[in-house]
Amino acid sequence: MRYDSSTKEMFTITLLTIISISCVFAQPINSEPFADLHPDVGLSVIELIQKYKYPIERHRNIETDDGYLLEMHRIPYGLKSGPAENKPVVFVMHGLLSSSADWVNMGPEKSLGFLLADLGYDVWMGNARGTTYSRNHISLDPDKYKSDFWDFSWNEIGEYDLPAMIDYVLSYTKQEKLFYIGHSQGTTSFYVMCSEKPAYNNKIRVMISLAPVAYMDHMENPLFRFVAAFDGPLEFLTQLIGIAEFLPDIEFLGSIGKVFCKDGAIFQEVCAGVIFLIGGFDSEQLNRTMIPVIMTNTPAGAATKQLLHYAQDINSGEFRKYDYGLIQNLIKYGSVSPPSYNLNKITAPVAMIYSKNDWLAATVDVERLAIELPNMVYKYLIPFEKFNHLDFLWAVDIIPLVYNYVFDLLKQY
Ligand SMILES: *[C@@H]1O[C@H](CO)[C@@H](O)[C@H](O)[C@H]1NC(C)=O
Repeated sequence: MRYDSSTKEMFTITLLTIISISCVFAQPINSEPFADLHPDVGLSVIELIQKYKYPIERHRNIETDDGYLLEMHRIPYGLKSGPAENKPVVFVMHGLLSSSADWVNMGPEKSLGFLLADLGYDVWMGNARGTTYSRNHISLDPDKYKSDFWDFSWNEIGEYDLPAMIDYVLSYTKQEKLFYIGHSQGTTSFYVMCSEKPAYNNKIRVMISLAPVAYMDHMENPLFRFVAAFDGPLEFLTQLIGIAEFLPDIEFLGSIGKVFCKDGAIFQEVCAGVIFLIGGFDSEQLNRTMIPVIMTNTPAGAATKQLLHYAQDINSGEFRKYDYGLIQNLIKYGSVSPPSYNLNKITAPVAMIYSKNDWLAATVDVERLAIELPNMVYKYLIPFEKFNHLDFLWAVDIIPLVYNYVFDLLKQY
């Protein structure tokens, strides 16, 4: 199926409708049993890993400097590699609205988490604050209406979550450095960390950016453009909706996914469209049978400020800190506009893998970032015209198109 611009508009409207409906109905619909669904539907990250007989460790209550309690999932070794001392550590970090599920939900043959474990790496999967496994704080309640729990963007994920998780992993494994692989917001937050807390550059062997996102003024995603349109002059609106959870009823969305997106369901194309809306249009690399599996754990939660912060970057054309409005900026930053992140401080070696049909990481924006980073070691544009933002996680041909390059990079550092 091909998508013209009116189809894209239709999908935009569909997604916004689904979001609205999910906000109105509080009760998840009863969705069991569905015998014809993929057997992995409904399995959590831990259940998925156990199902495929890989070792799984759950590390909970990793506390950030600002009191968030995070959970990490570890696959210490694979079925083809076995346990050993001092395995090289790979830390993988998911994107916006995702979680550690990204690295396992395509099963052992195609998921990065399993593949890396089988190649002999010690795999640690992070979960950012506000996502399914990291909805905890020493004092703030995520479920309270307008809770201060949700007062964060990817700035805080980079400034607090990543350092807390990296320190935890290095101290637990008694190692000095690790490999970092991030997708989308998992790259944004890395750049934030290394520019705001440069000491962390020394803890990175190499950082591999999949679909890197920092500069955003050329991105095409209609959902983000929609949010961006509300930013700027309507400063008070930003203030108003700034501190809240985005897509509060996640369980309900998961149920919708199971019913409407399974094989044979007439709405499967719409479900595919919703996924394309976030990632870019391409009907070739997404295996539709896997949509209900994906929707079991995704979307995994986010704060509206994460989206608004991206929206601000779209509008400003800069990669800079959260814009609180003139007066708050003066108080917080001592300047009228928010300061830009200092890319010169990102001295860890960075590799980038990006693609042409990526609605969030436009090639122009990626190339601008690559020029400005002081220690770029590798840049690879995927030679498949329609490869999109989410294909980096779920593409049918992900191994030849992406992961083989990732494995080569890991061997070199
Ligand atoms: C899509 O997923 C199903 C279920 O895992 C699998 O049987 C099928 O081979 C996949 N199709 C492709 C093209 O990879």
